[in-house]
Amino acid sequence: MPIALVTGAADGIGRATAERLYRGGWNVLAADRDADKLGWAQKAGIASIAADVSLEADNALMLAEMKARFGGLDAAVLNAGVTGGGSIDALAFADFQKVIGVNLFGAVLGIKAALPLLRNSAQPAIVLTSSTMGVAGDAENWAYCASKHALIGLVRSLSRELGCEGIRINALCPGPTKTGMTRMMEELAPEHFALMVQKVPLQRWADPDEMASVIEFLVSPAASYVTGHAMVADGGAMVGTGLVGPKTAAAPAIPPAINH
Ligand SMILES: NC(=O)c1ccc[n+]([C@@H]2O[C@H](COP(=O)([O-])OP(=O)(O)OC[C@H]3O[C@@H](n4cnc5c(N)ncnc54)[C@H](O)[C@@H]3O)[C@@H](O)[C@H]2O)c1
Repeated sequence: MPIALVTGAADGIGRATAERLYRGGWNVLAADRDADKLGWAQKAGIASIAADVSLEADNALMLAEMKARFGGLDAAVLNAGVTGGGSIDALAFADFQKVIGVNLFGAVLGIKAALPLLRNSAQPAIVLTSSTMGVAGDAENWAYCASKHALIGLVRSLSRELGCEGIRINALCPGPTKTGMTRMMEELAPEHFALMVQKVPLQRWADPDEMASVIEFLVSPAASYVTGHAMVADGGAMVGTGLVGPKTAAAPAIPPAINH
């Protein structure tokens, strides 16, 4: 059975990925800094570990646990992440450091810790969870955007460094997905949330399992020739100019004067 590590697995995309891989016959270690919220994994019979990915020692612990429990590692899904909104004037440098500490340093530390085990795998793969914010920017989200852009640079560079060893590395760039990270937005700013939904051609936010299925593909032999890629799964949100549309059921007609 192939073996996977999934970080940020207490909730959202990480949890859905751990569940999906486990259902698909993988041995899975679900890791998260929130030990209480990992309870779902124990109930499902999935191995879990409390670990903070921004700490080098915790990454070493996770990988020691992988080795002790399963004897190796085939796929490192380094998914843990935090938000970090705020204008360039308002967001303190210390808060920026926290965002980078988890989103970027966490991925780098995870890769460094995982490589010795991945080098013994017959189908080694790494997936980092970037974001559509990793390929475009938005106002008052510079810290998060910078961290997610950096992950794509990491993927592109390491694909060229590790490809000769057969190690594939890719990024998933999720669009808006209903998780703990975004639930608050729906509750606290429902009108803004509704407007954001309208900007997605598919007219809805993703379910976490729709991201997990892409990760499952990226770590599977079906993606054996895919590396260095930033795969966007965003309901079509990123392909428009943003000036017009998308077409919606409520306002289906784009005035001819705009597009002709
Ligand atoms: N939800 C979205 O719309 C969306 C869009 C694009 C990208 N993403 C990315 O997807 C990934 C998963 O986010 P999600 O939406 O499932 O959010 P989520 O908040 O539901 O899950 C994130 C998990 O990461 C864990 N975590 C945070 N910091 C950690 C740390 N230092 N060490 C270990 N675990 C830590 C949290 O405890 C949480 O369980 C993140 O990298 C996020 O940036 C999410």
